[in-house]
Amino acid sequence: MSTREIIKEGNIILRLKADEVKVFDNELHTLLDDMYETMIKAQGVGLAAPQIGISKRVIIVSTNPEERIEVINPEIVKFSGMQVGLEGCLSVDPSKNGNVKRPLKVTVKGYDREGNKILVKAKDFTARALCHEIDHLNGVLFIDKLEPNIE
Ligand code: CO
Repeated sequence: MSTREIIKEGNIILRLKADEVKVFDNELHTLLDDMYETMIKAQGVGLAAPQIGISKRVIIVSTNPEERIEVINPEIVKFSGMQVGLEGCLSVDPSKNGNVKRPLKVTVKGYDREGNKILVKAKDFTARALCHEIDHLNGVLFIDKLEPNIE
């Protein structure tokens, strides 16, 4: 495993629609392991492949040490409720952190690293993280969705 460089807002790769994964091989496993190591080192709670310059539909989320969610070609198939909360991103300067509206619960379908179909149900902060990472695959950053500040 090795850590990779996290690209920053302004890099065009972050604004592309990422490609679907069709082959579930060792290269994908290395990508996932490297993403995990990169995320931990950067003290993040999630990472999408485009953030390390790989325009593929691959995300990981880990909002606590016991949780390691990996989804390939993720798709939100069900969502309910609403939450507004503070968000940031390893690709965006922390000075831009702000409140974003997200569903309270989501169901995400996709594939695991071996190519098996999976369904991930999440709520609260994990649901927020999943939505944030899936947005990355469509070239969307949280700063596009900031709630107006009421001050
Ligand atoms: Co992000």
